[in-house]
Amino acid sequence: MSKGTLVLSIQGGADNWSPQRWIERFNAVGHGRKVVLLPEQISDPDDVHYAAVWKPQPGVLAAFRNLRAIFNLGAGVDALMADPTLPKVPIVRVAVDDLTGRMTEYVVLHVLIHHRQQLSLRDDQSRKLWQPGAQWAAGAVTVGIMGLGTLGRDAAEVLRRMGFRLVGWSNSAKTMDGVECFSGRDGLAPFLAKTHILVCLLPLTAETRHILNRRLFEKLARNSPLGGPVLINAGRGGLQVEADILSCIEDGTLLAATLDVFETEPLPTNSPLWSHPRVIVTPHNAADTDADAISAYVAEQIARFEAGEPLRNVVDVTRGY
Ligand code: NAP
Ligand code: GLV
Repeated sequence: MSKGTLVLSIQGGADNWSPQRWIERFNAVGHGRKVVLLPEQISDPDDVHYAAVWKPQPGVLAAFRNLRAIFNLGAGVDALMADPTLPKVPIVRVAVDDLTGRMTEYVVLHVLIHHRQQLSLRDDQSRKLWQPGAQWAAGAVTVGIMGLGTLGRDAAEVLRRMGFRLVGWSNSAKTMDGVECFSGRDGLAPFLAKTHILVCLLPLTAETRHILNRRLFEKLARNSPLGGPVLINAGRGGLQVEADILSCIEDGTLLAATLDVFETEPLPTNSPLWSHPRVIVTPHNAADTDADAISAYVAEQIARFEAGEPLRNVVDVTRGY
């Protein structure tokens, strides 16, 4: 009897999205299950039980009537949520230590770049200037994390251990050791009023689109030892209004920004963000999806599911994340 086919649909430009690599990995962990990379022709669409996807073309999964689950090969499901033809089966997202650890590295790196004044020091170096300024302690800086999910909680814990003060904001109320937690619309302003370095790890949903705008930046704490508030966005580009980020850096509402994600990706070459001295641009690589780790995670979830256990990290489609 057939074990059911797994289809792969991958649209990603980066090295870690090489379809050949993913086919190899799924064949290695599939225990003989047939794996087909779309758009290859499928002889028996009714034999397709699982799909593993990254930014699939809208409509591409609609033909599979016997689909049992869709595995999104990343943490963010905004691209999938935009497909109205998606079969109504559970959607599982990535929540694994490998990806979480990568994101925490990115957040810690960029919090430290701004906290340790690395942009100014780099500028001094380019002019051969030896001018050490005062350096404040981590405990003088409050990092505010928007999104206390899988990624935000881990980053918060590591930063707290490094001595930073932490505040966090989420949809539902939370408690976390050493992190002052705020939630919901009413919690946003008091959260921002305490934040010196704002780290955004929110999903992109109808509620969060363009949340990182001038009105929000104006509510950030003005008493930062850094000289002004800093934004780090590694969530999604659709969360931010790029014109507001630039104008807020120009008029001092923001001191600087690190951006891993953009309204249009790749970031167009004519974007002023590329060359702004107080903006760090990275190419949406804060936390890569690793084919080894994630194919093993999907295989384990399928094994659990076929043994009658519940799938883990299932997306709530009404919330959109
Ligand atoms: P998650 O576990 O689903 O956590 C999302 C967090 O955001 C939760 O704490 C949730 O609150 C909060 N949230 C959602 N909507 C909100 C709202 N309207 N108001 C306040 N809080 C809200 O997601 P995750 O795994 O941490 O990933 C977060 C995002 O990171 C992904 O969606 C993706 O866009 C992005 N990401 C980027 C990269 C990269 O390389 N740049 C890599 C991976 C992921 P509750 O806890 O109350 O539900
Ligand atoms: C990457 O952006 C992800 O959502 O995993």
